[in-house]
Amino acid sequence: MNITVAADRRQFDITAARYIVDMICARPQAVIGLSTGRTTGNIHRLVCDIHNNLDFDTSRVTFFGLDEVTGVDREYAGACYTMLRTEIIDGLGIDEDHFLMLPTRSDDFSAECRRFTGEIKRRGGIDLLILGLGENGHLGFNQPGSALNCTAGTASMDPVLEARIRRETATPAGVPLGGVTLGLREIMHARRIVLVANGGNKAAIVREMLCGPVSSDVPASILQLHPACQFLLDRDAAALIDIESLRNN
Ligand code: GLP
Repeated sequence: MNITVAADRRQFDITAARYIVDMICARPQAVIGLSTGRTTGNIHRLVCDIHNNLDFDTSRVTFFGLDEVTGVDREYAGACYTMLRTEIIDGLGIDEDHFLMLPTRSDDFSAECRRFTGEIKRRGGIDLLILGLGENGHLGFNQPGSALNCTAGTASMDPVLEARIRRETATPAGVPLGGVTLGLREIMHARRIVLVANGGNKAAIVREMLCGPVSSDVPASILQLHPACQFLLDRDAAALIDIESLRNN
């Protein structure tokens, strides 16, 4: 397994940001998938800082979001669309045609998912996918119990996240909220994956993801089977694993 443990948060962010920058520089027309959350925000802002300093070409790269919240306006600050725009897309000067997102609202999410995955395929497939890790082992909105070969579709939201979004958007109890996400099957088709996890709150699930059986109880455990997945951790997230023995696996 390819595991990197960063010495501190700054090194963690720089290492992750470099995967994105290196991909854009090596392959200007690359298709790169991004995740939202506490872990990736600083990484995204750092990519913009590096771009401000080095001014590499971003006119042909396509970015897409791994997942999206449904039932809210995409302008809502917690929608993945707005988070990614604010954190990285606008800063890199990416135009609308090079930023693919699943919609927050639709009468036909299945058709939207087909369109989204079809467009990614048409552009050559996923060159690099940056994945965050849910504390329960979820990837995107693929929660525990998701079939390991599931494809893009709608999903339920974990109750804590749902309660927060309802509060922030003043969404009434009767109005459904949820998520729409790339499935585990499309995730596994990415040519290169970087899973990023930091903080002691991720230590237990990192151990399950890397040392436990590959199981739908821990969707991220499927990454053990990916031929080119890099696991980037900080010391706190790596606290419960024996790195040397895993590296030899
Ligand atoms: C959310 C997102 C995921 C993300 C995960 C981790 O559930 N839907 O795509 O990877 O959170 O978030 P954090 O980095 O805040 O722990």
